[in-house]
Amino acid sequence: MNHQDFFKVKDGWNLEIESIKEEQLVHFGSNLLCGNGYLGYRGTLDEWNKEQYQACVVTDTYDLADGKWKELSNSPNALTTELKIDGERLGDYPGQNEMTTKLNFNYKYGIFRRKSIADKNIEVVSERFASFDNLHLIANNFQINNIEANEIELKIGINGDVWDLNGTHLENFTGEYNSNKNTLYLKANTVESKITLVTALSFKFKKGKIKNIKVENEEKSIYLLVSVDAESDRIVLARNMIVYSSNDLANPLQAALNDAAAALESSFENLRREHQAVWDKKWELMDIKVRGNLLDQLAVRFNLYHNIIAAPAHSERLPIGARGLSCQAYQGAAFWDQEIFNLPMFLFTETETAKNILKYRYHTLKGARKKAEELGYAGAFYAWISGKTGEELCPSFFFKDVISGRKIRNHFNDWQIHVSPDISYAIWKYYLATEDIDFVINYGSEILFEVARFLHSRVHYNQYQDHYEIIRLLGPDEYHENVDNNAFTNYQTQFALKKALYFYHKMENEYPEKLEMLKEKINLLESEITSWQQIAEKIYLPCPDQDNLIEQFDGYFDLEDTTAEVLEERLINQDEYWGWPNGVAVFTQVIKQADVIQLFTLHDIFSETVLAANYDYYEPRTQHGSSLSPSQYAVVAARLGRAEETYNYFKKSAFIDLMSTNKAVSGGTFIGGIHTAAAGGIWQLIVNGFAGLKIDKEGLSFKPVLCQEWREVEFNLNYRNKKFKVILNKNIFQLKANVENNEILESNVFEKKYMLKPGEEVKIEL
Ligand code: BGC
Repeated sequence: MNHQDFFKVKDGWNLEIESIKEEQLVHFGSNLLCGNGYLGYRGTLDEWNKEQYQACVVTDTYDLADGKWKELSNSPNALTTELKIDGERLGDYPGQNEMTTKLNFNYKYGIFRRKSIADKNIEVVSERFASFDNLHLIANNFQINNIEANEIELKIGINGDVWDLNGTHLENFTGEYNSNKNTLYLKANTVESKITLVTALSFKFKKGKIKNIKVENEEKSIYLLVSVDAESDRIVLARNMIVYSSNDLANPLQAALNDAAAALESSFENLRREHQAVWDKKWELMDIKVRGNLLDQLAVRFNLYHNIIAAPAHSERLPIGARGLSCQAYQGAAFWDQEIFNLPMFLFTETETAKNILKYRYHTLKGARKKAEELGYAGAFYAWISGKTGEELCPSFFFKDVISGRKIRNHFNDWQIHVSPDISYAIWKYYLATEDIDFVINYGSEILFEVARFLHSRVHYNQYQDHYEIIRLLGPDEYHENVDNNAFTNYQTQFALKKALYFYHKMENEYPEKLEMLKEKINLLESEITSWQQIAEKIYLPCPDQDNLIEQFDGYFDLEDTTAEVLEERLINQDEYWGWPNGVAVFTQVIKQADVIQLFTLHDIFSETVLAANYDYYEPRTQHGSSLSPSQYAVVAARLGRAEETYNYFKKSAFIDLMSTNKAVSGGTFIGGIHTAAAGGIWQLIVNGFAGLKIDKEGLSFKPVLCQEWREVEFNLNYRNKKFKVILNKNIFQLKANVENNEILESNVFEKKYMLKPGEEVKIEL
């Protein structure tokens, strides 16, 4: 597929779309998303409505409208626009265009810009961004140029009839227009969770004279019909959309009105400047420069941008949604994606955000404990799909059999247990990257102990083999449910138990009072610690066999050995779900995503021979049906020195959304939107893959290799408060310690130690 069918690349930050195709609407909306971790305004044109998937997803507004899917709500649209010139309605609507529109999206600052030309050379130019300076604000500058007409009517206001995926979330609309202040608002509440959502609009005509304003109230909307006289052939309207919910503060209406007024006092240009300053700071640490291929550079930044705006960095009580805030799919909720895919980038850049993400898991312990208890286990069994409270959001019937129309009982919620040890794994990595022992003592340890408890209650002792097993599982490869001893899960379990024990003993020695308090709080017994130790020692870990292969789960090698291509031919309906209980992949070795390979990206405990054998075995059997998969294969390929294969996976992973290569619907369920895990995976692919960054108890190390297609890669890292730059090209690997560092930076490159004083640099020939 050619990227030019989708977009053009102007430079390393800007993407251009020359014509809008109806079939790409769902994807455009997400790809061109203005977001800031609080809200996400889809990249739609000003005159578009729910038919074109206009939506603004707001964080922390979970609501269950259809009795099945709890999801985030969409805000009413305060940037709604209808333009009439001499009585004729103008707009660029797919299929009935009266305008020719070009879109530009700037990923440096998340700025969406459209320029449309209509009849008689009338030009509509509109620019918007979701402010990172005030997370509740979306600022818009809307202008019409070359106007010779007499009558111009703009219908602006707030439209509450929005796109919702699963049921209508808002009801009880009230609104008001304050003509003195050029401000209006619309207030509503969510149907089930009863959250109040307020959307306000303030506006001013910077060019153009208002002749008359008529207010039009509808059940779900409040509109202003504004007739305007152009000024030097132009009309320029500056608008501010403000969103607050009652979960943000007690009086969302007052807050929204205040912000609307303040934004009006300022100017679009000022607001943009303040917003850009925040982004500039972020990019100082988070940008990755790729030299030698502009398209790839843009794709990298596209992914970094989306990983950043998906993360609710402002809060320690909210998850990163698997689709961020790009739409309501995947319920605005966290999966294991959050710790294993989104988090790594923050661990080495914005560590406060990393901490917040992990604190969210602390605040949701209650939900995890509840789930464990309900299913008959102890400790914390984290939700497969985790929203605000951490209670399980994943419905028991996720997909449906598209042939019979019957529901499928997917056991994502009760058998995919690896999310709990994955969280323990992430806490360990956070500790290694930051040395933030306070976090571990005050938050992390409770998670680690409760997860260990859960795992203890979940394993079975096999007396004939004298080892512990984990039966009835679903590993990362979701096509094979109800399997025993999934290698990934068993290794992660051992790791999580060992880390719980490590911190238990560390606290016993160094923070005994804290440990006592915690033991008392969660009623932790000495006998439990002994059991964790026993299980960690005796858990069954599938080892490499005579061919160096690790079996994904018991009996996997006995399944039919075939490929995804063969299975494609067996499909009766293209939308069929491939997995449990009777999908085409179930009784075969075809897997959805990296599983044993995923184990290698997290744990460096196997030889290169083992890595290579498994990579070569599993790769042809992997469908990459999950967007999580390619980046993980890429990291392992790089470890094996197969840089060109890493690059091929880069293409696969980085363009999933940009070129709409993934399906938006599977098994009857909408799964479109930004694949934020793949976005986070791009950071890993470059930093852990090409640069070969690893962190373990011994510290930081690199094993760099670069593909032919790129001349150079450059990025910054923050390791235990020491910042440094990494530059990698085909001949040289360079580390430069920041002059402002307080300490010496220690790191290994190809197993040789380097010590860099602040400001020092080292160049290593490759
Ligand atoms: C993948 C899971 C992932 C989820 C959310 C599924 O398709 O198989 O591993 O957690 O999507 O991204």
